[in-house]
Amino acid sequence: LRPIRVAPSLLAADFARLGEEVRAVTAAGADWLHLDIMDGHFVPNISYGPVVVKALRKHTDIPFDVHLMIAPADPYLEAFAAAGADLISVHPEAGPHLHRTLQTIRGLGRKAGVVLNPATPVSAVENVLELCDLILVMSVNPGFGGQSFLEGQLGKIAILRQMIDSHVAQGGQEIDLQVDGGVTAQTAPRCIEAGADVLVAGTAVFGAPDYARAIATIKGKS
Ligand code: DX5
Ligand code: ZN
Repeated sequence: LRPIRVAPSLLAADFARLGEEVRAVTAAGADWLHLDIMDGHFVPNISYGPVVVKALRKHTDIPFDVHLMIAPADPYLEAFAAAGADLISVHPEAGPHLHRTLQTIRGLGRKAGVVLNPATPVSAVENVLELCDLILVMSVNPGFGGQSFLEGQLGKIAILRQMIDSHVAQGGQEIDLQVDGGVTAQTAPRCIEAGADVLVAGTAVFGAPDYARAIATIKGKS
């Protein structure tokens, strides 16, 4: 059985108390911290940049999972790596050379991820599997927290699970399969059943009165 990991998305945290929020989800059992970077151009919202990521790095030891919703992404990869990102994920639409972008992330000594928007087909990632440490399936259109889970993406998760399993069976490296958007106590079990092993949750964690309980529930442990 694959271990299920939960990556709370900081987007739903109290931005006036970010350091405290990061320490609280760490104590509550978060496996990774999901950091949503938005530029007001690739997505219709603006969040925060590498300065904030760097400031938060000293508040926890859990991996920083940086989801870049910026275009172009290439000029900022080094800054996010230096700020303390352990994994950097990019959208194929954010630049003309996805393969090169993933090579750059790996060259910076970080793990590399590819993010598929709801309308982006699985074929967008199939020729760069050997450079992926993670594939992220968006189950909402990126830009905002608190949206409803798009059921239609469950089939995509299942197809990617098969693709990853056959890649590994043929001697390829392990690839984490992550889902992001509208993940709740209700939708998490369906994502896990479809084959996801890392669940991003913003509202369902930071909007809950008890973070530890919320994380355990999403993992299916209570
Ligand atoms: C959306 C972001 C998500 C978002 C998820 O663009 O990529 O990470 O924070 O928020 P919830 O869990 O509230 O849907
Ligand atoms: Zn995200």
